[in-house]
Amino acid sequence: MTTYWWKNAIIYQIYPKSFKDTNADGIGDIQGIIDSLPYIKSLGVNTLWLNPIFISPQIDNGYDVSNYYAIDELFGSLADVEQLIAEAHALDLKIIFDLVLNHTSNQHPWFQEALKGPDNMYRDYYLWTDAPSDGTLPNNWASFFGGSVWEKDATSNQFYFHLFAKEMPDLNWKNPEVQKAMVDMAKFWLSKGIDGFRLDAFIHMIKADFALNVTGVPIGEIAIAEEYYANLPEVKVYLEAFIQELREVKPDIFIVGEAASATPDLALDYIGENLCSTVISFDHIKDREISGNSLIPSGLGDKTLHVPDFKERMSDWQSQLIQGVQPTLYWNNHDMPRLVSRFGDEKNYRTASCQSLAVAMYLLRGIPVILYGEEIGMKNVKIDTIEAFQDPMAKQYYQQLVTNGFTNEDSLRMIASINKEASRGGMQWDDTTYAGFSTVPCWSGVNVEKDYNVAAESENENSVLAFYQELLRLKKDDIFQLGETEFIDTEDTLIAYKRILLDEEAIVVCHVATEPTDVPLWLRELDNTYQVVFGTFNHHKDDIMQPYDYLVLSK
Ligand code: BGC
Repeated sequence: MTTYWWKNAIIYQIYPKSFKDTNADGIGDIQGIIDSLPYIKSLGVNTLWLNPIFISPQIDNGYDVSNYYAIDELFGSLADVEQLIAEAHALDLKIIFDLVLNHTSNQHPWFQEALKGPDNMYRDYYLWTDAPSDGTLPNNWASFFGGSVWEKDATSNQFYFHLFAKEMPDLNWKNPEVQKAMVDMAKFWLSKGIDGFRLDAFIHMIKADFALNVTGVPIGEIAIAEEYYANLPEVKVYLEAFIQELREVKPDIFIVGEAASATPDLALDYIGENLCSTVISFDHIKDREISGNSLIPSGLGDKTLHVPDFKERMSDWQSQLIQGVQPTLYWNNHDMPRLVSRFGDEKNYRTASCQSLAVAMYLLRGIPVILYGEEIGMKNVKIDTIEAFQDPMAKQYYQQLVTNGFTNEDSLRMIASINKEASRGGMQWDDTTYAGFSTVPCWSGVNVEKDYNVAAESENENSVLAFYQELLRLKKDDIFQLGETEFIDTEDTLIAYKRILLDEEAIVVCHVATEPTDVPLWLRELDNTYQVVFGTFNHHKDDIMQPYDYLVLSK
């Protein structure tokens, strides 16, 4: 029988471009990851997920792949990757790669061939449609990266489909050649010793009939068309065929599907023996604005966790993904701002908010996915100029904020608060000029902070780092791996739940707000059979929980 090592996975997500630069080009590399393996191991994680490192024109930081079989020289070579896999495995660390299935780069040889015309044998690797005779677009579907999903190829008078940037044409998964090519490529990496994959944006592999239009959209305008390009029933058919072939080669591979819009029901559809091991959904990521300042455009004000919504969503995930199915647990990733800047209080309670939020999330049942730097409390990277933002909306917001009287610095901070680029700052190894990330400036910027870096925190037993190490040790206890979860109905500013395993029980209580609150009665009245495992207040002696206090009890 296959044993699934990944049921107890604790994932550390590395954005290779921003992790550690060893060749002084301002971009992180594979050797930097190799050098850092002892550090990564010391955290208590057991699996690394690397964002894409294949050859790419870097229009979307590697999610636009032009050669799936080779490593981009920005990062190193195939020999470096082989060394990384060997050294990681020697430390008992598994590695999963990020596999971009939905699209390639427009520089991929398949697309370059496809551009040669409708008769080219690679034409059907992509999605094409004739240009309407009245000069309009084929339909009103919008791309996730702005503009239409359609780009005209002047030579053939046809349009090709791109859900993301126009330099990232979508593959035609109904073409058996495409299916085979992607299976072969994935098998190549398995043969190199990779332990699994994160499947990027797989829920978009299949599209509806291009004749359909989003209803209620004025003529000539476009709109996001999830119903036509996300989670179509056939996605599962192609996904299953793909994964089945890989599992035949290596039955215990870990497949983490990125299913951004999945609810628990949908997630369960994508998880199974010949399907994903688990999925990453955005469903539980719930914040709310706390500014109320009419001079700040909606969405840009300071944010905090929307606790009731978070609890409701998490309670659904915990109660529906059961019987050996493990949800993923995460607060941030490379596509969203950082945990402490978004959900915590980076100004007044930085360490405490990192800690309380981490307890609340990672002691739930499931597989933690920790974004590099989260374990040292890294905040959003400070981006110094508006030109540095790639997002076209950023410039519009900037104009508005400056016109409304905000300083350059405040405007940039507010824009970063909703921007994925904010999470991609260089890893803070120490407090030297470039934070030990490199000897030259980091491509994405890097914060240099005296107290928040690996070197300083390794020396401080009260640091976020020391805390994550302790928390991940605790996470390995059976009760936190296997126990059932029951959310406790309590105050809105508290996240509280029980974990239950046979006759064992643990209680986790996290205060996730900036004002003190009363210790709730149910907690004060717990009998003495509950022992304190760790925490920041005494539920029998203290009346008040301070901002971001937390407590873990067990009996
Ligand atoms: C990745 C993004 C990327 C997109 C297109 C996503 O879901 O996480 O960073 O831009 O897929 O590949």
